[in-house]
Amino acid sequence: MKLFVDTALIEEIRKLHRWGIISGVTTNPTLLAKAAATNVRDVIVQICELVQGPVSMEVVSTDAEGMVREAREYASWHEHVVVKIPMTEDGLIATRQLAAEGIKVNMTLIFNPNQALFAALAGATFVSPFLGRIDDISWEGMDLIREIAAVFRNDPHITTQILAASIRHPRHIVEAAKAGAHIATCPPQVLRKAVRHPLTDIGLERFLADWRKLQGQG
Ligand code: G3P
Repeated sequence: MKLFVDTALIEEIRKLHRWGIISGVTTNPTLLAKAAATNVRDVIVQICELVQGPVSMEVVSTDAEGMVREAREYASWHEHVVVKIPMTEDGLIATRQLAAEGIKVNMTLIFNPNQALFAALAGATFVSPFLGRIDDISWEGMDLIREIAAVFRNDPHITTQILAASIRHPRHIVEAAKAGAHIATCPPQVLRKAVRHPLTDIGLERFLADWRKLQGQG
């Protein structure tokens, strides 16, 4: 499973990209607002140049024509731009059109397996099921990943990738990998928590203390 970062904060992306484990970035209007990205085009292009992999930019139109118009504009910004389209009837129409034009789509706000199947049939490159938001209403978000993975596995024509989104904690990452997600898009703080283990810290401290002791003896 691949890892993307779910943020529009360029400095955060820069730091995390140095770890060598990040192959893409997802943004949405909320994340761009949090990053106070007034020049959205500039921010997205910078991210694309940095990660050299898929970078999702979401449309705000709700009608198919408007979505297609926006998507063409975003896709013209950089070859790595993937256009995020919401799972609606208009979203499906727009996705089919954009796929025919060779523009990559990430269908977002996926909350049931039928939505994921429809997105795949419309030609989406990625589907984004929102795990955390399902957990928030006391359902099991991971079951959705498992179901989508089973549906996609049963149709050899489907090449759409499952991009687990709304990741809230480190266990979501490993569980999504086990459930069959191709990618998990993670907020920076979740990646930072996931890299830490108290026994790693204690072990490192002991190794360094013993090394200093040895140097003292020498
Ligand atoms: O990629 C979509 C994701 O950012 C949504 O996450 O935490 O707002 O549910 P959250």
